[in-house]
Amino acid sequence: MNPAQSPAWAALAAQAEKWSSLHLREVFAQDPARAERYVADAAGIELDYSKNRIDNETLALLQQLAVDTGVKARIDAMFAGEKINNTEDRAVLHVALRNRANTPVLVDGHDVMPDVNAVLTRMFAFADKVRSGEWKGRTGRAITDIVNIGIGGSDLGPLMVCEALKPYGHERLSMHFVSNVDGAQIIQTLKKLDPETTLFVIASKTFTTIETLTNANSARAWFLASGASEADIAKHFVAVSTNGPKVSAFGISTDNMFGFWDWVGGRYSLWSAIGLPIALYLGPDNFKALLEGAHAIDQHFRTAPFEKNLPVLMGLIGVWYANFLASPSVVIAPYNQNMHRLPAYLQQLDMESNGKGVRRDGEKVEYKTGPIIWGEPGINGQHAYFQLLHQGTHLIPLDFILALDQADLDPTHHAVLISSCLAQSAALMRGKTADEARAELTKAGVSGEKLEQLVKHKTFEGNRPSNMLVLDALDPKHLGALIALYEHKVFVQGAVWGINSYDQWGVELGKQLASGIQNALKTGSGEDDYDASTQRLIKLARNRLTT
Ligand code: F6P
Repeated sequence: MNPAQSPAWAALAAQAEKWSSLHLREVFAQDPARAERYVADAAGIELDYSKNRIDNETLALLQQLAVDTGVKARIDAMFAGEKINNTEDRAVLHVALRNRANTPVLVDGHDVMPDVNAVLTRMFAFADKVRSGEWKGRTGRAITDIVNIGIGGSDLGPLMVCEALKPYGHERLSMHFVSNVDGAQIIQTLKKLDPETTLFVIASKTFTTIETLTNANSARAWFLASGASEADIAKHFVAVSTNGPKVSAFGISTDNMFGFWDWVGGRYSLWSAIGLPIALYLGPDNFKALLEGAHAIDQHFRTAPFEKNLPVLMGLIGVWYANFLASPSVVIAPYNQNMHRLPAYLQQLDMESNGKGVRRDGEKVEYKTGPIIWGEPGINGQHAYFQLLHQGTHLIPLDFILALDQADLDPTHHAVLISSCLAQSAALMRGKTADEARAELTKAGVSGEKLEQLVKHKTFEGNRPSNMLVLDALDPKHLGALIALYEHKVFVQGAVWGINSYDQWGVELGKQLASGIQNALKTGSGEDDYDASTQRLIKLARNRLTT
């Protein structure tokens, strides 16, 4: 249904009015028990959502909105393998990839679990061989460097996980990720590598992505230029794709291909063979732990009541800000350096999924949908973008992410890290009143006109909301759970908004135009198909490319 027609929608709009005159500082003072009440946990992750502009009434209405929009039925449909990606007529079953219970999951009456398990078994056997040194390069030396060539979902997931779990990485193996078609990236990467000990993973769901194929061709040329033969490619190149014929056409034997299926969306694919770099670097046991963490959240998402359901709570709170409090964006602030690619990963996950303007039935939406997701590790952000969050004019809720434990933990550093994270969420919420600023300045010896002038600048409005996600530890299991939590948060929002979170037609037009422009750059023909500005820019670039 159109969510705006739900009675809960109108009631939430009235709630928003109420919240326009409430300050979280006072709300906490009157009801400190909300700190205990607005906490939920699952799979070793605690969500403290007490510092949000919500109360029992708001939450009840949001949950009613989820009921009215049929969120539960959508969840059941996804797990049942129904083709909820209606524009591509596909099931959406990343949950099957980590279904550690191994219960049957049917797509068109076919149980996909034996296929899933067979690919995992092949991936793990290959990973074990590379890790142990049994898999040799063409001159008999063990692999030391792995280069994943892929983009979007065929890059960000494995990259983010390998970075986040670096302390678990194999000591002999160095990981490299090449995604950009800008030649500088592959040139700089290959410069450091020895072709005799380098393994390339060419990762592309479609195996038609121009960036990936251009980089893969350059990698192959570099490899062959080292004196290797075509036959040696089998020892140094593997492919991950759903498209066997294209992989063969590229010159990689399908014996060296790890497959997956059309019911795995690119941005949901790190659990599939796209996760091969993760299995290679972290090992099969850690990959399994990642899957287990995600599976634990899947179970929770499927069975927990909405009022205790982490993805549902996060999704609904996000709907509240986007649709009722006019907030356009969400910051992801992990307080862990190794999680530095998480914001970029979640940017694709969320924005490619819910950046939609029509509902599943093709009707234009009349309300805001997916938020703008951005961020950086929080501690660095404090010294960069946090100023705008504290005193700027936009309302931007944050997700703080904190791990109580991690490998490579230094207690002194960790105490500074944790206290900074907690301090920021408290400061954003409470702010600083003019009286507090005045007292501080007076204590510092400032007085008169200067004091009154500075008070205005040193006052913080506060009332800025945030979630605090606390992981027991940053390890494979908890990271798997965290990623799955965000996947399902995105699902809940897509379900409430009635959109299809699993297609991405918006990226296609640029791809189509790029292929014509590439031709125009090479040959000069077809320029007239473009607007005057683009024609002029094509000429500018062509002159430079040909000189
Ligand atoms: O252009 C967007 C996109 O299709 C993403 O959805 C996807 O993750 C990425 O490109 C890479 O696609 P592929 O894995 O097919 O190369």
